Amino acid sequence: MMPPDTMFPADLFEEGRRAMPLQPGAMLLGGFASPRADALLADLHRIADVSPFRKMVTPGGWPMSVAMTNCGSLGWVTDRTGYRYDPRDPQTGDPWPEMPETFRSLAEQAADVAGYARFEPDSCLMNRYEPGSRLSLHQDRNERDFDAPIVSVSLGLPATFLWGGATRSEKPMRVRLYHGDVVVWGGPARLTFHGVDTLRGSGSPAGEFRYNLTFRAAR
Ligand code: SIN
Ligand code: FE2
Repeated sequence: MMPPDTMFPADLFEEGRRAMPLQPGAMLLGGFASPRADALLADLHRIADVSPFRKMVTPGGWPMSVAMTNCGSLGWVTDRTGYRYDPRDPQTGDPWPEMPETFRSLAEQAADVAGYARFEPDSCLMNRYEPGSRLSLHQDRNERDFDAPIVSVSLGLPATFLWGGATRSEKPMRVRLYHGDVVVWGGPARLTFHGVDTLRGSGSPAGEFRYNLTFRAAR
């Protein structure tokens, strides 16, 4: 037994969220990406030099508050014609940058730990949130099938993830996500509504943005 005075609340907090179920099929892996966060951010910036972050327009004509880009063989895009996966970056006309090995291995390992073996992502949507950005409740359902899980990696500023239910009207649970956290959802949780509450804060040592990498098998 650990003597009580060596177990600080911060340790208990870390311990409790290292593999925290959100619902059957969905798990928060607190800090899973932390040891590799610098390498992930370096690759993220390299990708953004080629396919820059941009605020895409919804089918309704509104620019999103979250700036996005992609890597991998397919990228998620939205414009006035709707949502789709596209093999090319509409802004550059070129294929999306390749998914770096740092990204791929992290996503595969996180999926495996959460109980989804043999995850083979072909798409990574990269989201950049600034203070004031939000992502309203939605399901990820533009993928060809829902057999594969979603792996979501948080970097930079903390944010409040909204974890809802099978319908939009269910009141979402609020889950604080920090630099290095990973959330995996699939199986019975694959179509759960989720979103991100308005990002607050600035002038933090974690930088001025929150980044999120969302890995999918889209084809
Ligand atoms: C998403 O649902 O595409 C992103 C979720 C997040 O930023 O945590
Ligand atoms: Fe999503």
